[in-house]
Amino acid sequence: MKKIAILTSGGDAPGMNACIRAVVRSAKYYGLDVLGIRRGYQGLLEKDYFDMGMRSVSDIIQRGGTMLYSARSSEFPTAEGKQKAADNLREQGVEGLVVIGGDGSLRGARALAVEHGIKTIGIPGTIDNDLAYTDYTLGFDTAVNTAIELVNKLRDTMTSHERVNIVEVMGRHCGDIALYVGISCGAEIVALPEKPITVQEIADRILRSRDKGKRSNVIILAEGAGDAGEMSKELAKLVPYNVRATELGHIQRGGSPTMMDRLLACQFGAYAVDLLREGKTNRVVGIRDNKIFDQDIIEALSMPRVFNEKLYEITKILSR
Ligand code: F6P
Repeated sequence: MKKIAILTSGGDAPGMNACIRAVVRSAKYYGLDVLGIRRGYQGLLEKDYFDMGMRSVSDIIQRGGTMLYSARSSEFPTAEGKQKAADNLREQGVEGLVVIGGDGSLRGARALAVEHGIKTIGIPGTIDNDLAYTDYTLGFDTAVNTAIELVNKLRDTMTSHERVNIVEVMGRHCGDIALYVGISCGAEIVALPEKPITVQEIADRILRSRDKGKRSNVIILAEGAGDAGEMSKELAKLVPYNVRATELGHIQRGGSPTMMDRLLACQFGAYAVDLLREGKTNRVVGIRDNKIFDQDIIEALSMPRVFNEKLYEITKILSR
């Protein structure tokens, strides 16, 4: 293998830059050429690419976002789009493609591999942590830590004013951000798509907690389980306290990656290049039981997600 390409796609995630750096520097170390594709699959269709050298990835390990930019392409998933993408890669002499992104992006890599024979390696990069095959995705740890910091600040003022706050966090259809933020912040309630809860149940739990002496309530709501604004209006009708809503939004997607995300990024990137050099393609890279591993891309993306029941139980017990 002489030339590889790299792109980031879908929602950006802290650690993507560190991972791009790891792929480029590892590839260069082994004498491979690297084509950087801007704006994900859309940029691939539009031939928006450039040659990446060692210095092209200087000073980015600590930066959030992605230097390759990211996009969601509506043209790529069509039959013509995928054909064009494969043709463009072949035209550039690319022999292996590294895709950093979430579920949709890795499905794109799978399609290029299965339908067009492009050799791909997928790296899980999304704050959502919604990929079943890996314990953690790149960016999740940073997003959770950012949210924790913000919820800590909210808790201060909620307690001073004895209020209730429903804090909506991202995660798409996955409740992991909410669950991890909830347990780490001592939230009284976490509302997750995996564990539906009614507004009446939330109200009952708040009332019971106040009877037991709690002076404020923080509810962490996963975006897949409802809307904080609407829920707060409903809840305000059921409890005699001031109820506020806070949507953390895209703040969760930015910022300097944590040590954990930098470490994952460096290892995922280096591992991906090793796989390509060994001729192992159409794989995804992940971490399970603290060990970096790779798995067949088709197999990995068809695994059902297993919800962490134990963590949810602990969260409930500790927040009483
Ligand atoms: O997949 C990452 C994510 O941030 C989700 O948590 C969220 O639902 C979505 O992307 C938001 O997408 P956009 O930035 O396109 O609004």
